[in-house]
Amino acid sequence: MTAVTSMTLSEQLRSGSAAEHRRAESSSFMAALAEGRVNAAGYAAYLGRLLPVYLQLEEVGAQLNTDERVRQLFDVALLRSSAIADDLHHWGGVAIDSPAVRAYAERIHQTLADPVCYLAHHYTRYLGDLSGGQVIGRVLERVFQLSDGQGTAFYRFPQIEKVKPYKDGYRSRLDALALTEDEQARAVDEVRVAFALNQGLFDELTAELPTYLTHTA
Ligand code: HEM
Repeated sequence: MTAVTSMTLSEQLRSGSAAEHRRAESSSFMAALAEGRVNAAGYAAYLGRLLPVYLQLEEVGAQLNTDERVRQLFDVALLRSSAIADDLHHWGGVAIDSPAVRAYAERIHQTLADPVCYLAHHYTRYLGDLSGGQVIGRVLERVFQLSDGQGTAFYRFPQIEKVKPYKDGYRSRLDALALTEDEQARAVDEVRVAFALNQGLFDELTAELPTYLTHTA
């Protein structure tokens, strides 16, 4: 469709996942988290699922460093797994293995054979962490009265001075990649897959939500 292909890749990724993004934001667990109604055990269950996912994302990213397109986006300043591991320790959680975690990690592993699809996973998590993640970090600090960044390393990017220009730069690097139309379409499809895999994590957490809700916001 000409209307789609005339968009830049970053515009395609954003508009192609807008409905999925709305669904993610309104999943009961994520909505409760953003409203400050999830307790420490709930937040640990969230981070515990994200840790194996990020370990896989970052392991595959390191291996795909031979791919010129991945090299354009991959940035050590974004790496989150050690921050998540530190936070998990703070919240008293452990890495969690679950069907949704395995499905997500397995899909990321498969992108070793398809670097363009890897980029979709990279975009979905890291641009999310630099966007809604920043909101969640502030909510946690307020609700749990955290000082000195205890427990919220996930949302701090010490090597990134300002988030907004960084995100703009990331989108420009995406748009400068020499991808065919087919590859661009594959990237958009894979962003939808990535959102669905995140939704799988949130569905598991939503099923456990009654045990994680606090009464005060
Ligand atoms: C309560 C949950 C969430 C909130 C409040 C939220 C909020 C936001 C906001 C306000 C933006 C726009 C930032 C900007 O334009 O600079 C954004 C962008 C984004 N979010 Fe979320 N988000 C949430 C959940 C998620 C989840 C679960 C994911 C994926 C796993 C995600 C992925 C993204 C991505 C990839 C972008 C960048 C879109 C683009 O500019 O291309 N978000 N989010």
